[in-house]
Amino acid sequence: MCGIIGYAGSRPCAHGVLLSGLKALEYRGYDSSGIASFQCGQIEIIKAKGKISELEKKIKDKPESFCGIAHTRWATHGEPNEINAHPHRVEGVTLVHNGIIENAAALKKAYEQRGIVFKSETDSEVACACLAILYRSEKNKLKVLREAAKILKGSYAFAIMFEDEEGVIYGMRKDSPLILGIGEEGNFLASDLSAFIRFTRNYATIDEDQIVRITNQEIECYDSDLNRVDVQVQKSEMDISTIEKGGYDSFLLKEIHEEGRVVMDTIHHYMKNSLQELSKTMIDLKKYHCIYFVACGSAYHAGVLAKNLIEKYARIRCECEVASEFRYNSPILDEKTLVICISQSGETADTLAAIRMVNKMGVDSCAIVNVKGSSLEKEAKYVLPTLAGVEISVATTKAYCAQVAVCCLLALNSCMDRLSSLQLHTIEKQLQKIDMYIDKLISDTNLDGFVASIMNKKNVFFIGRGIDYALSMEGALKLKEITYIQAVAYPAGELKHGTISLIEEDTPVMVLISDEKLVDKSISNMKEVKARGARILLVIREDLYHESIEADEVIFLPKVSEFLQGIVSIVPYQLLAHHLAAKMGCDIDQPKNLAKSVTVE
Ligand code: G6P
Repeated sequence: MCGIIGYAGSRPCAHGVLLSGLKALEYRGYDSSGIASFQCGQIEIIKAKGKISELEKKIKDKPESFCGIAHTRWATHGEPNEINAHPHRVEGVTLVHNGIIENAAALKKAYEQRGIVFKSETDSEVACACLAILYRSEKNKLKVLREAAKILKGSYAFAIMFEDEEGVIYGMRKDSPLILGIGEEGNFLASDLSAFIRFTRNYATIDEDQIVRITNQEIECYDSDLNRVDVQVQKSEMDISTIEKGGYDSFLLKEIHEEGRVVMDTIHHYMKNSLQELSKTMIDLKKYHCIYFVACGSAYHAGVLAKNLIEKYARIRCECEVASEFRYNSPILDEKTLVICISQSGETADTLAAIRMVNKMGVDSCAIVNVKGSSLEKEAKYVLPTLAGVEISVATTKAYCAQVAVCCLLALNSCMDRLSSLQLHTIEKQLQKIDMYIDKLISDTNLDGFVASIMNKKNVFFIGRGIDYALSMEGALKLKEITYIQAVAYPAGELKHGTISLIEEDTPVMVLISDEKLVDKSISNMKEVKARGARILLVIREDLYHESIEADEVIFLPKVSEFLQGIVSIVPYQLLAHHLAAKMGCDIDQPKNLAKSVTVE
């Protein structure tokens, strides 16, 4: 949710470096962008509405610079236009901001009375004014930043330049990510590593309320009392190919093709050969009376699936709630409750707020999280990593599969004593070749009939029972996210209680069937909609299919244990969303209105 980068370099290449960083951060927001850089002792600002490519066009003829800050925006306060785009400048202070200043309205009034004329509708310009006003009377910039941190409420990561201090960038953060990059030809500040990984692998995290000051040669870090503190420089192992398309038309398609590998990497992190290894690498859920899964978007759907498996096989009560509701619904938590927050980015504001609340209550917390060093990872009592690598496409695919894989292992570990040795052996064998099931499904699935059936339709329904319902929710979300077609998931048996009134001649209904115990029930539900004219697009485990099932189009899933079914069954739905979006000419990796990392509540 908004990406920021700052670069203080030894060579005049700041525009190129910042643009490259913005492109890597574009997943965080892409409705407008801007760069501020030092030009002969003055700060020049260039902004553009739309994608980074628009900014690139405007900046290409400008003289290069040694030092600058840049921003890609996901609008919160004020519509996406050039005026509201960052950087913002008030008097001698220029900044870029990620986050939300919650007391901006009150501060704005007060600052107007002190002579500030605001140009934009943003809270970020108010933050800039706060610094500028403090700087009128206090010339120590560190003290200015420390005072501003006391005044500004909400969340922020700032990169700040003062016009009278050429070549220097200040940064500070609260509840929004900001990390340092330490290079040979300059230093960086950015929302995440991918922004500067092409230039340096050396990085350091910045703690909440710390203030940093970077030049081309130096990095200084201060605590909230302005005492100098050391930074711990680490080396990133990030694979640069993960931030390149590598011959695919979109990151989304590339990331779907990586699913076999990332699921395998994730499983190998917890076990190599035997399921018994899970007792050492997983959390023992049996000591809890209740497990809460808390997450947003796709991660929430992974939680719904986990709840189903754990309740069914381990007989431990589970709840699953979206993070923005969880906090305000007064959940009943005690020392026998474990709250598991699931998040790809580890920075989703609602999920973070949920874990903070849980930690404050003294209740055990756990994070299933993809990004190492993220806030969620740092704040959870227990961490179960997913090893999906960097995911660029805004709509998640491979990271979701890795989350489902961890949920399946968690469920397996909690019910091993209830499974026969034959069942355990079968699951172990299937786990060892789970990547082959996924790869084969990706290469063999022909979705032409499905695509043609949904093309130009206004509504699509996804139905299923049990884990198939959890997967249907994810399938519907994928379709909505990248094709903008209205898609709704329903438990197969529930559709007739109202929603069936929307079924018309040729309305596409996606039916997912992977559970032998529920197959007959789901087929009855399928017939109910078929009788009302629906076009049935069936995704079914191959061994459950027989000729008398009247579907208009069919795709087959391999038969694997129910624990692993979720990892493979989602693949056709992800491919379907991709193929439709490609045919409709949609922007697959950067769908409208979305952002990958939603760092506002
Ligand atoms: C945003 C994205 C979704 C994602 C959700 C949760 O809304 O657009 O695709 O599932 O955030 O993100 P997280 O990083 O917490 O998994």
